[in-house]
Amino acid sequence: MSRLVIVSNRTPGKSAAAGGLAVALRKTLAEREGFWFGWSGKLTDAPETRARFEDVEGLSVATIDLTRDDHQAYYAGFSNSILWPSFHLRLDLAHIDSTWYEGYRRVNQQFAQALLPLLRPDDVIWVHDYHLIPLASELRALGAGNRMGFYLHIPFPTADALYAIPHHLELMRDVSRYDLVGMQANRDVAAFTEAVENMTHTSLAGDPLQMFDFARTEVAAFPIGSDPEAFARMSVSAAATKMVKRMDRVLAGQKLVLGVDRLDYSKGLPQRVEAYEKLLANNSRLRRCVHMLQIAPPSRDSIKEYQETSDTLDAICGRVMGRFAEPDWAPLTYVKRAYGQASLAGLYRLARVALVTPLRDGMNLVAHEFIGSQNPADPGVLVLSRFAGAAEIFEDAILVNPFDTDETAEALRLALDMPLEERQSRWRSLMAAAQEHNVDDWSKSFLGRLSPPSAAAGAPTRDILYLASMA
Ligand code: F6P
Repeated sequence: MSRLVIVSNRTPGKSAAAGGLAVALRKTLAEREGFWFGWSGKLTDAPETRARFEDVEGLSVATIDLTRDDHQAYYAGFSNSILWPSFHLRLDLAHIDSTWYEGYRRVNQQFAQALLPLLRPDDVIWVHDYHLIPLASELRALGAGNRMGFYLHIPFPTADALYAIPHHLELMRDVSRYDLVGMQANRDVAAFTEAVENMTHTSLAGDPLQMFDFARTEVAAFPIGSDPEAFARMSVSAAATKMVKRMDRVLAGQKLVLGVDRLDYSKGLPQRVEAYEKLLANNSRLRRCVHMLQIAPPSRDSIKEYQETSDTLDAICGRVMGRFAEPDWAPLTYVKRAYGQASLAGLYRLARVALVTPLRDGMNLVAHEFIGSQNPADPGVLVLSRFAGAAEIFEDAILVNPFDTDETAEALRLALDMPLEERQSRWRSLMAAAQEHNVDDWSKSFLGRLSPPSAAAGAPTRDILYLASMA
């Protein structure tokens, strides 16, 4: 079997709070020959194009450092101040600085230069996320003819949001240099298809070599998942039980309403706390009977919009405390730090309701992890945003419009009052869906499409095909 090379901005680290992507892919690579390539997490003064290998808990990981300026332009700038807000339909939060695109391309070129000497011709390359859209173009420009796949972990934007992104034509051309493009949800494939249809016959600066053509790029939805059985085990582990005991002391019989999200404006945190405020305002019987715990580890905090989201959330949580707290009762706890998976699994199992209400989200693995962690005899209820990719999978969650805080408050009340039998039957269907969309099958189905066994032996490479069609 050919080697697998996974490429992403962040590589798996040793920290307890690894992101969803690292958690999902660690297992795939552990079962196959290959390595992971990405940024080392270190900033230097001079650019570096020679990767260093290290062993991270049995995985072979190759990394390069980035210069401070390049990282600022590529990560905080183009990736997270232009692509992230635009792809999440928050054009009001996008900042356009014309120098960032050059930094974004420079880092992608640097990745390609450092990766190329490590490649064998039959390696299969799987590139992850919006930071690295141009990587296939840059590798192909250096002569790599490998099979290359790209997976977008965040939603694909609507056509007009895409057009608002500087250099979107080049980015679409870059997408067309992959053999397979995977998206989280059917919604994303539909948005992508619409954008491509609008752009057919478009060329960049009239140069035929710069034309993009998606004829040889397959685009499909591959909804990512978690490992629900692993969460079931973790939710009763020693670490989970320790966390449950700590929380149980605070709850003293109250029902737990839980939210776990990176502190990001796409997660709809202020709206969520406002919905909880409305629940308490409209249902005085619930005061002293419920407690909300929102875990929100800080994220991308060098970016102004993230600092502002954090301030807004502080203010709303303070308002709810001031309005409803009493000397012997607090309506909520708000924790700005990350916890390990086992502690979270314990909290998921303890929760009566999980509030997963992003304004827009690629998939949302918290929804999957919550379901996997439930006690089948006494499961909690998932209140889920219609605008998370997970809503296409979890029909038996209570689906809400997170912008409508009255609707979310009412969904929360329904969830808290839901009889055991209904909770059990909804959870059985949710668990079946989480099992059907587990992370193993996700990576197997993507890689099976990217490098079907029949294509491995001597098929013409993408580059040859591409150049022949241009001749
Ligand atoms: O959701 C997209 C994503 O890139 C995840 O893959 C990742 O876990 C998360 O955002 C964290 O982002 P960052 O690397 O910017 O902290």
